[in-house]
Amino acid sequence: VDLTSANTLALPCRAERFSAPGTLSALRSTLAKARCQGWPITLLGGGSNVLLPEQLPGLTVRPALSQWWLSQQQGHVLAHVGAGVNWHALVMATARRGLWGIENLALIPGNCGAAPVQNIGAYGVELADTLQSVQVMELASGQLAWLSAQECQFGYRDSVFKGAMADKVVITQLVLRLSRKPAPQLGYGDLAARLSSVPTPLEVAEAVCTIRREKLPDPKVLANAGSFFKNPLISDEQAAHLLCQYPDMPHFRQMKGQTKLAAGWLIDQCGLKGMRDGAFGVHQHQALVLVHFGGGDRHGLMKIASYIAAQVEARFGVRLSPEPRLINS
Ligand code: EPU
Repeated sequence: VDLTSANTLALPCRAERFSAPGTLSALRSTLAKARCQGWPITLLGGGSNVLLPEQLPGLTVRPALSQWWLSQQQGHVLAHVGAGVNWHALVMATARRGLWGIENLALIPGNCGAAPVQNIGAYGVELADTLQSVQVMELASGQLAWLSAQECQFGYRDSVFKGAMADKVVITQLVLRLSRKPAPQLGYGDLAARLSSVPTPLEVAEAVCTIRREKLPDPKVLANAGSFFKNPLISDEQAAHLLCQYPDMPHFRQMKGQTKLAAGWLIDQCGLKGMRDGAFGVHQHQALVLVHFGGGDRHGLMKIASYIAAQVEARFGVRLSPEPRLINS
């Protein structure tokens, strides 16, 4: 099966076998079959945060559980969401119902099942802020289990699904804790300036869409996977040292003596915004996004990424690491 159009970077990829089970029992049977046959399993969601190889042996599974519903719980509204639901569609549907919680995460591509893996985040909000629990199916047994938000071990673009549980479970459902009580989070960038003092969740979501459309290329028009690098965390000491030399450097103090830098700014300062190397380039409006003009493969993408990381390291002494996940390397 050709997965070139199933990943937003449009990297050429062929899966030996592909399955998109739409129910838990279909998912369980698919996994059992792969186990019996000894096929390696690759899990895929919306394909918006992966670096795919040209060949994927065994079975690639994209859960298509596409139901979601709301329930009430002690002043909150819980959203129960199948892994195959499109994330942005969920954000808009809950915002339209006047529910607060995920409106800042509008227009993030991909499916809900992948959202906890990297703890999607934007404009001062992360999935971890509203996630109550995650239902998973164990690959080895087909059994279902629930994990609390704490058990997911969320960090910046990080979770247990990238660590101890990587390749052990399929995420099948999320439970999000939303609220009817106004709770706008407008502290990031110029979000507040674009809104009235008492916005609705839908207005916040729409403002976020506008900002994102200004900076981030639409993968349907120009292939990309959003931010290609994570914003690096460095020690407060190293940050203080860099700030002497670069007083305008954007920096965000974190906990535990760490400071987060803006990778896009570091790349931009190296003069790399808009650069091109064959099939790939650095986006003109946001240096953190690498774009694929067509005709390239993962090898070509990793080549330009290594070049960029080397330039940043030589100038700032800061190491960048890719945000999308390298599959089957
Ligand atoms: N900047 C530049 N030049 C650039 C890009 C950015 O100078 O080419 C500066 C900006 O002026 C700003 C700072 O860097 O001072 C941060 O830029 P921005 O607000 O655009 O956000 P970001 O740090 O580049 C992160 C997330 C995005 C998320 C935005 C908004 C990561 C890796 N990226 O980007 O997430 O939408 O913040 O919250 O954390 C994604 O993960 O795919 C993604 C798009």
